[in-house]
Amino acid sequence: MKISIENVNSHEKKTEMLCGFVIENSDNVLGLDRTLYNEPLKQSLIDMGGKFAKTVVIPSNQKANRILLAGLGKKEKISSDAIRFVSGKIAQIAKELRLKEFSIILPSESSFNLESSVTQVIEGCKLSLYKFETYKTEKGHTAPDISILSADSKKIMKVAKIAEIIADGAIFTKSIANLPPNECTPTTLANFARDVAKKNKMRCTVIAKQELKKKGFGGISAVGQGSKNEPKLIILEHGRKTREKPIVLVGKAVTFDTGGISLKPGEKMDEMKFDKCGGCTVLGIMKAVSELKLPVNVVGIIPSVENMPGGESYRPGDIIKLYNGKTAEILNTDAEGRLILADALSFGEKHYSPKAIIDFATLTGACIIALGTNVAGIVSNNEKLKQKIIDASKKTSEDVWELPLNDDYMDMIKSDVADMKNIGIGRAAGTITAAAFLRNAIRDTPWIHFDIAGVAWTQVATKEKPYNPKGATGFGVRLILNYLQNQL
Ligand code: BES
Ligand code: ZN
Ligand code: ZN
Repeated sequence: MKISIENVNSHEKKTEMLCGFVIENSDNVLGLDRTLYNEPLKQSLIDMGGKFAKTVVIPSNQKANRILLAGLGKKEKISSDAIRFVSGKIAQIAKELRLKEFSIILPSESSFNLESSVTQVIEGCKLSLYKFETYKTEKGHTAPDISILSADSKKIMKVAKIAEIIADGAIFTKSIANLPPNECTPTTLANFARDVAKKNKMRCTVIAKQELKKKGFGGISAVGQGSKNEPKLIILEHGRKTREKPIVLVGKAVTFDTGGISLKPGEKMDEMKFDKCGGCTVLGIMKAVSELKLPVNVVGIIPSVENMPGGESYRPGDIIKLYNGKTAEILNTDAEGRLILADALSFGEKHYSPKAIIDFATLTGACIIALGTNVAGIVSNNEKLKQKIIDASKKTSEDVWELPLNDDYMDMIKSDVADMKNIGIGRAAGTITAAAFLRNAIRDTPWIHFDIAGVAWTQVATKEKPYNPKGATGFGVRLILNYLQNQL
C-alpha cells in the first residue's frame, strides 16, 4: 500500500473511488468540486444526511469511477477520532470492492486542523487495512493505494510521513503481538528486537538466563525457570549520543501466561498469548522512534518469559530477591507480571538515571472489571508526567483513566515474611496493588504505569472500530510517539 499526497482538484483526479467527508445536515461534500454534484449525488447526500460513519457509494462517469460520501456527524460533536474512524471505514470499503487505489479529499475548512486531519486519515486507513493472515494459506486481497488530495499538499507532506511511520510502528506491534505462543517465545522476541535495531542503527543487548541469574534479576529468573523457552531481558537504545537523560520505556512480555503452578482455568486461556502486548508496544515505539530519528534519548526494556507449570517452576510460598535487593513472597504464581517488571524498572532506573519511566503491561484482570475494555488504567507518582500523557491520549484517542496510589495501598502488599507479597488482600483494588508492587521497584524517578489488560487486544466488550480489527490493537504506540514528539 502506497500513500501519496497530491495537490489536485477533485474533478481532475482520475481514480477508482473519490471519497469526501460530509458534516451532518449540510448540503455539501467537503472539498468536492461543484461540477461533480449530479442528481444522484445530491439525493444521496440528503438520504445519508452526513450521519456519523454513514457511507454511500455513487457511480460516476467523470474522471472518478465512483464517489463515496462519508458522514462525520454533527459539527459540534466531531471528536478527535472521527476522521480516523471514518477513514478506516472508507479503506475497508475500498478493500472489499477490491480497488487497486482510491482517493480521499482532505477537508480544508478552518474548523479542521490540517495536520491532525491528515494524520487521522493515514492512521485510520493503514490500521484498518492491516490484517493478521500470516497463518492463512489463502491470503486476502492486497491493500489499495491511497491518494490524499489537498491544496496544502506541501504543508502536510512532512506530517504525513511521520504519521505513516507511526502507523507502521503500531502495525508492527500488532503483527508480533498476534503471533501464537508456539511461534513467539522470548528468544523470538529478542530476534525481532535485534532485527529492528540493525535496520535502524540502535544498540540492542539481550541478557540470557545464566547472566540474568548472576546479575540478580530474581523476578525474571523465578518466573522464567518453569519453561524450556528461556527468559530474556531485551534492551534497545535509541540516541544516547548526548548526555541528556533518556526516557525509559518498559514492557511486560510474557509470551504465554498459563498462571504457572497457580494454573489458570482453561476458558479463554488461549488469550494469554496476548500477555506479551506491553513488550510489543515498546518494540513498535522503538522502531518508529528510530525511523523518525527523534532527537531524544529513548531506551526500551523488555523483560520476556513464558509462565509455565512444571517440575522446575517457582511456587507459592517461595521468597525471591528482586534486582533492587528487596524480597518478595510469592503467594500466587499467576501474579508474575509485576515480578518481571519490578526487575526491569529497577534496572532501568539504576543504569540510565532516566527523566521518566513509562511501563506497559497486561497486568491485571481487575483492570477490565474496573474500567472495561476501552480505557487503560494509569497509575503515576508524578503530576506533570501524568498530565502530558493524558494530553497525548486525547490527541490519539487512546483513552486512559487514573487510579489512585497512596500509602494505604502500599500497605496492602506488605508480607509477614518478606518485604512484599506479590498479591494484595483478596481481590480488593487488584490493579492498584499490582501498581503498588511496581512502585516499590523505583526510587523517585517520575513514573507512569499503563495497565493495558483491557485494551491491548479486542475482547467481547471492546467497542468496534474499523481501525481496530480483531486481535492485538497496538494500544499505546501512537500515544507515546505523540508524547515523545512533544518532548522536543
Ligand atoms: N496476565 C494476567 C492479567 C490478565 C488477565 C490480563 C486477564 C488480561 C486478561 C496476569 O498475569 C494475571 O494473571 N494477574 C492475576 C493477578 C492475581 C493473581 C492477583 C489476575 O489478574 O487475576
Ligand atoms: Zn498471570
Ligand atoms: Zn500475565
